[in-house]
Amino acid sequence: MINNNYHYHNMTRLLITLIIFFSHPVISKEINLFTSRHYDSDFKLYKKFTQKTGIKVNIINGKSKVLEKRIYEEGKNSKADVLFLADAGALYSAQKKNLFTKIESKKINNKLPKNLRNDFWIAITKRARVLFYNPEKINKKDVQNISYEDLSNKKWKNSIAIRQANNIYNQSLIASLLEYNGPKNTFIWLKDFVNNFVRSPQGNDRAQILLVASGEAKLAIANTYYYALMLSGKKGDNQKKAAEKVKPIFPNQNNRGTHINISGAGILKNSPNKKNSLKFIEFLLTNEAQTHICNNSFEFPVIDNVKTNSFIDKIGKNFKEDNTISLSIYGERQTEAFKLMKKAGWN
Ligand SMILES: [Fe+2]
Repeated sequence: MINNNYHYHNMTRLLITLIIFFSHPVISKEINLFTSRHYDSDFKLYKKFTQKTGIKVNIINGKSKVLEKRIYEEGKNSKADVLFLADAGALYSAQKKNLFTKIESKKINNKLPKNLRNDFWIAITKRARVLFYNPEKINKKDVQNISYEDLSNKKWKNSIAIRQANNIYNQSLIASLLEYNGPKNTFIWLKDFVNNFVRSPQGNDRAQILLVASGEAKLAIANTYYYALMLSGKKGDNQKKAAEKVKPIFPNQNNRGTHINISGAGILKNSPNKKNSLKFIEFLLTNEAQTHICNNSFEFPVIDNVKTNSFIDKIGKNFKEDNTISLSIYGERQTEAFKLMKKAGWN
């Protein structure tokens, strides 16, 4: 009887082990992707990844701060595997909360230059924050050698359209100026820059471009992909026509280069599916995925030799990028930047 009982227990244990063993690959054939990106085209791309690997991608969409808070609060119980966010500052914020695990991948290291990755997150797309002008309203000569620093010049009084200070793209841009020019000079610059605003900041990046197209503003500051999105016609005929009236100018070509930001991803410390998460990120850096993402969102690819469509080509890819600054600086100095922006009267 004792023997039988013993035998019975062993059989049960074996059965449980077998169930765990066989169900394990099924359970782990998925990842939970937390992302602030909202492009339908991204979601289509993830389906391709699933077809290739059998790894399902469950998408949890939300604002970066909301996702960050949730992952932080759930701690060890978090089921989040990958966090994919726009803006280096947002990634840095999650990194500071100790949410990420280190990414170790020769594949990634060989593909990406050092300024586009750190131990915890890596760039998936690049964006440039540039100026737009209307060639019918101002002479190209007046802007072709322009720098961000020049935008405080009195000659641009009542000229500049830009969105609000709470916008993270603006905060990252000002963080970079803080790094290069120091707080004192940046504050002086900010006051003069704000004085040159054509109106109290409002609307998104496309709204600023529209203002230049209509002639109400001379210069708009916006990310390049918004311009391409308008040119593509995806935002309607009016915006397409407006975009066709304006031209981009890449600031600081004669010195450090134009301000570059990224969309990037990291694997979470408590991720239950770390291996599949790495596969997913490596997939996002393939030529196929880069082509897909950039041709739909109009951002710049982070790897070489990606064929991009005519809208991206129209922006121009051969400009000097500011790739000397560490992207983490955007996060490190964002709060400081925001405070100075507000103090200078940027609403
Ligand atoms: Fe954006």
